Amino acid sequence: MKALVLAGGRGTRLRPLTHTAAKQLVPVANRPILFYVLDNLAQAGIKEVGIIVSPETQKAIREAVGDGGRWGFRAEYLFQEEPLGLAHAVKVARVFLGESPFVMYLGDNLIGSGIREYCEAFRAAKTDALILLKQVEDPTSFGVVELDGNGRVLSLVEKPKHPKSDLALVGIYFFSPKVHRAIEEIRPSWRGELEITDAIQRLVENHGEVAGYILKEWWIDTGKKDDLLAANTLVLDEWIARQIDGDIDSASQVMGRVVIGKESRVQASTVRGPVVIGERVVIRDSFIGPFTTIGNGSQIVHSVIEHSVILEGVLIENVDRLEDSLIGNGAKIFKDQATRQAYRLLLGDDSVVEL
Ligand code: DAU
Repeated sequence: MKALVLAGGRGTRLRPLTHTAAKQLVPVANRPILFYVLDNLAQAGIKEVGIIVSPETQKAIREAVGDGGRWGFRAEYLFQEEPLGLAHAVKVARVFLGESPFVMYLGDNLIGSGIREYCEAFRAAKTDALILLKQVEDPTSFGVVELDGNGRVLSLVEKPKHPKSDLALVGIYFFSPKVHRAIEEIRPSWRGELEITDAIQRLVENHGEVAGYILKEWWIDTGKKDDLLAANTLVLDEWIARQIDGDIDSASQVMGRVVIGKESRVQASTVRGPVVIGERVVIRDSFIGPFTTIGNGSQIVHSVIEHSVILEGVLIENVDRLEDSLIGNGAKIFKDQATRQAYRLLLGDDSVVEL
């Protein structure tokens, strides 16, 4: 089986969180979301991975992923000039995919498990498609699927105003080569995209067999919702094991599942896991509480931080208590020791400050 990973799309920056144009590279627990996708493909034994890139994302994605050797597969880049839809991306990949069955994986989707079990289910079921589904509160911003009592797919609609169920399409799909014919038959939707949802609907109508599996673990479409913090909490909670590569001085305490990267220093501080601290980070005279990630090159001095995502090169100094916060690359938050009465702020577009 081959894999097709979608890491194209418009370069709408995830302001103010990242200066990279590729939302698939936004970090969760200090690793790009896309890397979790590639981990899952490698674990499922997939050796050929096509990666859809766009004019905006291609440079950053190629630099981050390289030839795929780190994952033990061969990565091939497939250039999609314009984001004309998920089914259009499959068309772009037509030569790469050939007549092979494949898994299509959206590069900004994060799930709480591997995909090996679903790969095996697809192989065993020999259906034309196997789609993963998850119950969601507001199905109107997803593809929505109606199942019969036996788990057979009856209908699919992309972002319906009046959803027939609360089962959303998770961004992971398994296809036989029959899908290419279905894609040839569909036309662009009201939003001008060739929708993979319509192609699957076409498979259903042409008496193809489409199986729907409800995903057991959690799922976060990080590209859509602003719940990077939630994704970070889940990953820290479930996947982090203690690994200390940096220095901890004798006046510090580091408790529980904590990762401290190379050349980082913890001085006169307490760190209570689960916490991930990147490389070249300085933590001095501070408390870092559970569910916090601190990006490479950041400095935390005389501050308390809990349940937060701090990206790279951030300075936080003399901050009494910071929680439930997302802090973008290069941000500086500090208080003059001679407690000022006024706040002095320099904030980028779309910043949110709760004082
Ligand atoms: O996340 C699950 C949802 O993903 C499904 O429930 C929907 O049925 C499905 O259409 C899709 O909806 P989105 O609106 O979230 O798709 P989005 O445009 O965000 O694209 C998903 C990923 O695919 C994203 O990483 C960008 C990439 N992409 C997207 C398009 C339209 C491409 O590489 N090329 C494209 O042409």
